Amino acid sequence: MSKVFACFKSIGAYAPKKVLSNEDLEKMVETTDEWILQRTGIKERRLASEDELTSDLGLKAAKLAIERAGIKTDEIDAVICATLTPDFLCMPATACLIASKLGIKNVLAFDVSAACSGFVYILYLAKSLIESGLHKNILIIGAEKLSSVVDYTDRGTCILFGDGGGAAIIGTTTDKNEAIADIQISADGDYAHLLVAPRSRVTHPKDDRTLEYLQMAGNEVFKVAVKTLTNDVVEILQKNGISADEIDHFIPHQANLRIIEAVREKLNFSHEKTVLTVHKYGNTSAASIPMAMNDAYEEGRIKHGDLILLDTFGGGFTWGSALLRFGGK
Ligand code: UT7
Repeated sequence: MSKVFACFKSIGAYAPKKVLSNEDLEKMVETTDEWILQRTGIKERRLASEDELTSDLGLKAAKLAIERAGIKTDEIDAVICATLTPDFLCMPATACLIASKLGIKNVLAFDVSAACSGFVYILYLAKSLIESGLHKNILIIGAEKLSSVVDYTDRGTCILFGDGGGAAIIGTTTDKNEAIADIQISADGDYAHLLVAPRSRVTHPKDDRTLEYLQMAGNEVFKVAVKTLTNDVVEILQKNGISADEIDHFIPHQANLRIIEAVREKLNFSHEKTVLTVHKYGNTSAASIPMAMNDAYEEGRIKHGDLILLDTFGGGFTWGSALLRFGGK
């Protein structure tokens, strides 16, 4: 019997309609469009409406991914959601809520907490579950309502984040040329305190602002992010004997244009190969990579068989990279 590989079958995403521009933020905190653009590359970000929850954003992205994969919901045998803004803290998992809204029952469904690296983490899990032979079609979702944890009086963070969802179907293939080649993920909890959102009432029962809002030591995070994202990509390319020239699309986590540019220049990726959405969505954490991938797909840039490199970094700290062929149509 031929070996079964995990295959990235489809991508889908959803961006809420409401736009929060830099000009809007100028009216809320002491900042300017010029400062935000220069330091982050962000022009605007999307905000979910009050009654739109993370599961709703994930659901819309998931529907698109399922339709594009050409499968029925009853063929899906696992649902995994990465989010740091679940509808409910701890339970029920957002993945269970999305599965229920899709009418998917009696399958594995759970959430993963790996901040901005969440999507690459769940891609790793999906690959492992499929290549172990236990599963055939896994719905993975990265969705965030970050506006629910952002402090809109803190100019150091509120300019960065936005809401959205992205999803993919990871299926099977026996053709190595359309498989997910390699994924490496890692973490270092020594940096945990530099990016928290929000603190748990279990460990911090005192009622203060840190309970409610995302807190970030931006500059310190920035420095580690550049170094880690660069090393990560160098490592996965070397390990797989692939040169940067062979990559068709470099899709990094969309946190800050300066971080992306630093990695892009170091690796010598062209502008054309680098997928950018940070200017219009800001940082959407676990949704950032699938939203960027979906944009490139909808623009007709990503085709079946293209070699894609994902690179991510986030709170925890967590990080990871993935090397894959696009197996969708
Ligand atoms: O997704 C997870 C990973 N997250 C990241 O990778 C985010 C990493 N961090 C960043 O993107 C950047 O550090 C920021 C965009 C958050 C900040 O940019 P920075 O170049 O690191 O600025 P800074 O924090 O060193 O602050 C420089 C100055 C400070 O003023 P003083 O102390 O020099 O007078 C800040 O108070 O800029 C000030 N500042 C602002 N000024 C205008 C900070 N935020 C703003 C603002 N508008 N929104």
